Amino acid sequence: MRYALISDVHANLPALEAVLVALDARSDVDAVYHLGDLVGYAPWPDEVVALLRDRGIPGVAGNYDSTTATDYEHCGCRYEDPRQEELSHLSYGWTRDHTSVETKRWLGGLPFRIDLRPLGGHTAGPKLALVHGNPVLNTVYWTEDRSDDFCRKMAARLEAKPGDVVAFGHTHRPWHREVGGIQFLNTGSVGRPKDGDPRTGYATVAFEEGEVSVEIVRLEYDVARAAAGIRASELPDDFAGILERGGTPL
Ligand SMILES: [Fe+2]
Repeated sequence: MRYALISDVHANLPALEAVLVALDARSDVDAVYHLGDLVGYAPWPDEVVALLRDRGIPGVAGNYDSTTATDYEHCGCRYEDPRQEELSHLSYGWTRDHTSVETKRWLGGLPFRIDLRPLGGHTAGPKLALVHGNPVLNTVYWTEDRSDDFCRKMAARLEAKPGDVVAFGHTHRPWHREVGGIQFLNTGSVGRPKDGDPRTGYATVAFEEGEVSVEIVRLEYDVARAAAGIRASELPDDFAGILERGGTPL
């Protein structure tokens, strides 16, 4: 059983389309799940949600989804300087104003966490747990430099055991490591990478014959189309440059 995991699409329709085309071209992917943050920063929130709904792709709520759904006062995003704070508010305000009531209702219905049983659940087989940020809050960043102890604490919240996989996004930087026999996988970002690589990406997790294998994939997409869409909208042009640079600092 191989799962494809896509996270942090952030209303970037060209990036999502490229990932779905790539997944369609593979014959070894059995199911696709998203890990939240479907909207924000780019001009296609309704289109991204409609495409995922059309394709029947389930997933969990990111901080951007649950706050947009409820018209919460802030998106729960982190910022490091006053300009980033200003941009964060502009993106969130635009997204709240340009996301339909129907889309908000659907975003509001996304679960916080999904547990999958690749072997069907009738045996005590491995578990794949999906959350957006971490199992406690979807706003906390689970970065690669977190300690093994942090990973163990998060695993305990999910009742994860050796052989299980915990997958999450939110930081927009993919990474993977094993701690105590549990695989921890940050699936990166489809629509707003922050690791200096502007390509889109996804991850897969495969369970076969007692073995777990994890794969992080990056691929080109039409960044120019995404950037042009942002520049043609009332969103700040800064967001186009961030996509073109792969999120490197301004
Ligand atoms: Fe995000």
